[in-house]
Amino acid sequence: EQGYQEETNKRYNHIIQTLPKEKGWWFQNLFQCQGFWLPPHAVKSLLLLEDHFICNPSDVILATSPKCGTTWLRALVFATLNRSLYEFATHPLITANPRDLVPFLESYVYRNEPTSLPSPRLFSTHLPYTLFPDSVKGSSCRFIYVCRNPKDVFVSKWHFMNKIRSRELSTSLCLQDAFEMFQRGVSHYGPFWDHVLSYWNAYLQAPNQVLFLMYEELQRDPSVQVKKLAEFLGTPFSMEEENAGVVQEIIKLCSFENLSNLLINKDTNSDIIIKNPDFFRKGTVGDWKNLLTLEMAGSLDQATKEKLRGSGLSF
Ligand code: A3P
Repeated sequence: EQGYQEETNKRYNHIIQTLPKEKGWWFQNLFQCQGFWLPPHAVKSLLLLEDHFICNPSDVILATSPKCGTTWLRALVFATLNRSLYEFATHPLITANPRDLVPFLESYVYRNEPTSLPSPRLFSTHLPYTLFPDSVKGSSCRFIYVCRNPKDVFVSKWHFMNKIRSRELSTSLCLQDAFEMFQRGVSHYGPFWDHVLSYWNAYLQAPNQVLFLMYEELQRDPSVQVKKLAEFLGTPFSMEEENAGVVQEIIKLCSFENLSNLLINKDTNSDIIIKNPDFFRKGTVGDWKNLLTLEMAGSLDQATKEKLRGSGLSF
């Protein structure tokens, strides 16, 4: 590690001991930091962001709660922003998982020598808006947020966690225990609702700086949403592009069917804990119906209604 991270490390070692902690969903504890439950590496990322990250006004940060469509958003934004650079037949998304094309900000800040990224730099993050340091929030960088119905988020997360647990741990996480944690907000980067509201409020205050999308709307009418993306990025599709079917090509390239069937996204050989196939399961809306009891669904709906009351946002 380079010297410049030494002070941050000291700060981290001190702070982490003072934070409330809960047994998490797998082998890592979650730590409550400014109201949000973060895995330990994200607590450190936050400090590194505060101490060392130099935000570029042209940066574009793709923000999500885990399981809300990070992979899809990464692919769509990468393909939209760089559409003049690549042919669809030989596109980088065919040979790389979206996480390798849009770096995770929380990991990027760990690197001793940040790689130089082309401008505008694209990052992805799970951090809630309110936790970003003023150096980021006060700059003119832009955020694109995608949220998803909490019932589907919970179900997606439960499957995801158990898939990883089945490889790394010998025990699985029972649905009831997971549900209870999610409801209490003890979930990565949660409480889920507070995460959503952090970006929703930022969007209401500065709609030019924050774009707020929904997974369900992306499914319902992807071309409207992709056009929104392009406009927000300052690169609207021209008439020629629309007539040439570029929007449809992007949607097809980034679709669940296409991405999940690529060799690179079926590859289980890497030694990282979360493997490419883990990001692809069903990619549908409403899969909660296959797992949650009516009582669980009602209880989550009630929580959502209460937490979002008065915000103007609903699922
Ligand atoms: P399901 O578990 O409901 O299938 P994230 O990328 O934030 O980790 O979210 C993962 C969820 O998005 C999973 O949901 C996954 O199947 C779905 N997903 C991944 N790629 C997708 C795509 N290209 N289009 C639609 N959904 C996608």
